[in-house]
Amino acid sequence: MKERIEALLAQVDSLVCKTDQEIEEARVRLLGKKGEITKLFEEFRTVAPEMKREFGQKLNVLKTAAANKIEELKNAAEQSSACVASFDTTKPGDPFTLGSRHPISITREEIVEIFRKFGYDVSEGPEIEDDWHVFEALNFPPEHPAREMQDTFFISDCDNPVLLRTHTSSVQVRAMEKMPLPIRIVCPGRVFRNEAISARAHCIFHQVEGLYIDENVTFADMKQAILLFAREMFGADAQIRMRPSYFPFTEPSAEVDVSCNICKGKGCNVCKGTGWLEIMGCGMVDPNVLEASGIDSKKYSGFAFGMGVERIAMLKWQVKDLRNYFENDLRFLKEFETSI
Ligand code: PHE
Repeated sequence: MKERIEALLAQVDSLVCKTDQEIEEARVRLLGKKGEITKLFEEFRTVAPEMKREFGQKLNVLKTAAANKIEELKNAAEQSSACVASFDTTKPGDPFTLGSRHPISITREEIVEIFRKFGYDVSEGPEIEDDWHVFEALNFPPEHPAREMQDTFFISDCDNPVLLRTHTSSVQVRAMEKMPLPIRIVCPGRVFRNEAISARAHCIFHQVEGLYIDENVTFADMKQAILLFAREMFGADAQIRMRPSYFPFTEPSAEVDVSCNICKGKGCNVCKGTGWLEIMGCGMVDPNVLEASGIDSKKYSGFAFGMGVERIAMLKWQVKDLRNYFENDLRFLKEFETSI
């Protein structure tokens, strides 16, 4: 009897059943009315009294082990079937709303795409810069008052200051230092200026600047490139005008206005009655800038331009407050869903 109890105990221990039916069969075989364990209990009655204590204990252990094992197998089977049942492959998918691209990304891509069509490559550079690439190489000598036009965030202000770039002209310097000529690039990216945040200014904004350097590049080439850009961006009947301006890195320099696309030049509150909207700065690259990057200014000339992406986006969609672009208000962002 002892051996049979032990053999059954080992059997119970190693019992594996997967389906409900297999488990029920095992239960009947062991614990059913004619089950093996039940039979042992019947035989137990005939055991000699001095052996009863030992066998009784062993039988009870066996019975409990078998009952526990059956219970355990039932639970496991239930869980795996619940898992299968919860995955209903016929159920329709949960609806979810698609996001949209940010208006600044949409505008930046549109600007870059227009210039890409004209044969410009995209060039990117670091946001954390040194004085050379942001100022010095761009003809801003130390202590030059023009540095104050661009309120700079300094990270370290020692002999060799580390700063956040105030324009992506720094990428153009890096390109002039490294790239073979001719160079025809646009430089999109974030820029940083220590300005009070208002409806018209922010301390972080985005620019796309452009640079074209080759032999015999003239002011007329620049005018034509900017006119074509304005027509692609604001419509085929867009006009441009240039007003004299000043930048340390270009000579001559100009500010570019595009005819107001809302009133078609008649004058409205967006263009403040002038019929024109300012869109960018531009100019012929100063020979000093070419020479600082190792380009022969006798042989080569070029033009550069730079625009604020937020400004272009504001004009295109008549957004009145620049801060909308940074607040991630879904009601604002959803308006651009169809513009993907
Ligand atoms: N870097 C100038 C700015 O950030 C823009 C500019 C670029 C002007 C190239 C002229 C030529 O204001």
